[in-house]
Amino acid sequence: RWMTAPLAFIYATYPAEAQFPRVCCTVEGILSKQCCPALSSDPANVCGSLSGRGNCSAVRVDSKPWGGPYRLRNVDDRERWPTKFFNQTCRCTGNFAGHDCGQCKFGWTGPNCDQRKAPVVRKNIHSLTSEELQEFLNALELAKTTTHPDYVIATQHWLGLLGPNGTEPQVTNISIYDFFVWQHYYSVRDTLLGPGRPFKAIDFSHKGPAFITWHRYHLLSLERELQRMTGNENFAIPYWNFATGQSECDVCTDSMLGGRNPDNPSLISNQSRFSRWGVVCNSLDEYNRLVTLCNGTGEGSIQRGIMERGNASLPTMTDVRSCLGIRDFDSPPYFTNSSFSFRNALEGYDKPDGELDESVNNLHNLVHSMLNGTSSLSHAAANDPIFVVLHAFTDAIFDEWMRRFVPSNATFPDEMAPIGHNRDYNMVPFFPPITNEEIYITSEQLGYSYAVDLEGECLNSVFKRYV
Ligand SMILES: *[C@@H]1O[C@H](CO)[C@@H](O)[C@H](O)[C@H]1NC(C)=O
Ligand SMILES: *[C@@H]1O[C@H](CO)[C@@H](O)[C@H](O)[C@H]1NC(C)=O
Ligand SMILES: *[C@@H]1O[C@H](CO)[C@@H](O)[C@H](O)[C@H]1NC(C)=O
Ligand SMILES: *[C@@H]1O[C@H](CO)[C@@H](O)[C@H](O)[C@H]1NC(C)=O
Ligand SMILES: *[C@@H]1O[C@H](CO)[C@@H](O)[C@H](O)[C@H]1NC(C)=O
Ligand SMILES: *[C@@H]1O[C@H](CO)[C@@H](O)[C@H](O)[C@H]1NC(C)=O
Ligand SMILES: *[C@@H]1O[C@H](CO)[C@@H](O)[C@H](O)[C@H]1NC(C)=O
Repeated sequence: RWMTAPLAFIYATYPAEAQFPRVCCTVEGILSKQCCPALSSDPANVCGSLSGRGNCSAVRVDSKPWGGPYRLRNVDDRERWPTKFFNQTCRCTGNFAGHDCGQCKFGWTGPNCDQRKAPVVRKNIHSLTSEELQEFLNALELAKTTTHPDYVIATQHWLGLLGPNGTEPQVTNISIYDFFVWQHYYSVRDTLLGPGRPFKAIDFSHKGPAFITWHRYHLLSLERELQRMTGNENFAIPYWNFATGQSECDVCTDSMLGGRNPDNPSLISNQSRFSRWGVVCNSLDEYNRLVTLCNGTGEGSIQRGIMERGNASLPTMTDVRSCLGIRDFDSPPYFTNSSFSFRNALEGYDKPDGELDESVNNLHNLVHSMLNGTSSLSHAAANDPIFVVLHAFTDAIFDEWMRRFVPSNATFPDEMAPIGHNRDYNMVPFFPPITNEEIYITSEQLGYSYAVDLEGECLNSVFKRYV
């Protein structure tokens, strides 16, 4: 069932591109493996050390054994993330955060990051006022074309990262939204063992406990960038309650995330701005064949196909309540065949009540596959803006589960989860490093909340604030 890789043929110069702060992608930065920028114009103020914000420290990596199908060693540049690229980064003190300790941790604000931020409220997309809806759609659109202020992606192999003469870092700018897409692609892409010889049984953000924490951090990062871009610290992304039990997508309208194109049912209607969005990182087979990675260039339009499956329907609120009854966060082998695992049921490989059935496709997975097209390919899924609202609802379900069971850190496995999924693993490809454990806390602690009542009879009309 799983692909095995003959070790004799491992490609010697496997590429290792990645996303890092622009300021660290200099010849000296890459050669020294040190990413510790000065916070001000004073070069001595490394990591804001002159104001006590942080210092430059060796990266800590998870040293516990991993399980799962990836049994190779030292052939994937995401092992011991991010030390194949940088082994020294800023370690910020207190509530400071960011690659140069210039930001606050999620959930904190103020010049010294010592004030609790009032949680921003993520609402049902159907309950937004028309101004709020336009603010969200406009923010997405601006993010699609605005260059990421801090991060770049590299366009050449690790060994070619400094260009043919070793003097020119091969990095490129990318928009804020495409950066979000690229991160998702990078976390699920295959290990490149040689031309046309990918090792596919690896995934740093699905099929294991990090599914929950990874997507939570991914959304938080986008939300923060949208807040910075719009100058509205209170901006919150909305969620889509996909548990309608219907066979139609009720956010696929021209006033929301795009209706269907009458002339080509796999495309978005011309009346929607999203019909003009180009997808990136879609050509996984080509990258594998060429032993290269996604470089962020446009590769056509978003595709959807929800209307095609006449007799299938989206999950129901009964399914949601059912998975919320599962007490264990995860269970060995912390994979797609874990049973009575809240994570596996929510991800969608188990029946909603946690019973293992290999034929099951439910909750989160079912929604992706019903949307079909771009959303059904994990490496490309984040191109469709539905990804944002779909994952916000998935995260809202997790947040309700946390509220019910108040889990300790120990409920997140610290070893033998698939690579990337142990509690202390630095989530790939986030930078500076952040572990799964650091995000396994309630949404209020991270500065946001959901206006949702998952017990309610009718989610769209019943409102309850948890703030
Ligand atoms: C970090 O990487 C540099 C450059 O390769 C190397 O000289 C140094 O020994 C490494 N430090 C650690 C702590 O691994
Ligand atoms: C590399 O160096 C050669 C010789 O100095 C020069 O002709 C060439 O333009 C350089 N290439 C790059 C990409 O800098
Ligand atoms: C990348 O973006 C930064 C910030 O907007 C800008 O200063 C820089 O010139 C851009 N680089 C390229 C190659 O476009
Ligand atoms: C970027 O990737 C695309 C798709 O793989 C490829 O066609 C194109 O040549 C690449 N561009 C550069 C500048 O490498
Ligand atoms: C789960 O799946 C893996 C990979 O197919 C297999 O090695 C393992 O034995 C399975 N475990 C259980 C408990 O079914
Ligand atoms: C997805 O779309 C393809 C092509 O239109 C179709 O053949 C397939 O049945 C669809 N799959 C699902 C799960 O709807
Ligand atoms: C749980 O995680 C928190 C936050 O990272 C940490 O402060 C605490 O020490 C951890 N507790 C245990 C028992 O590991």
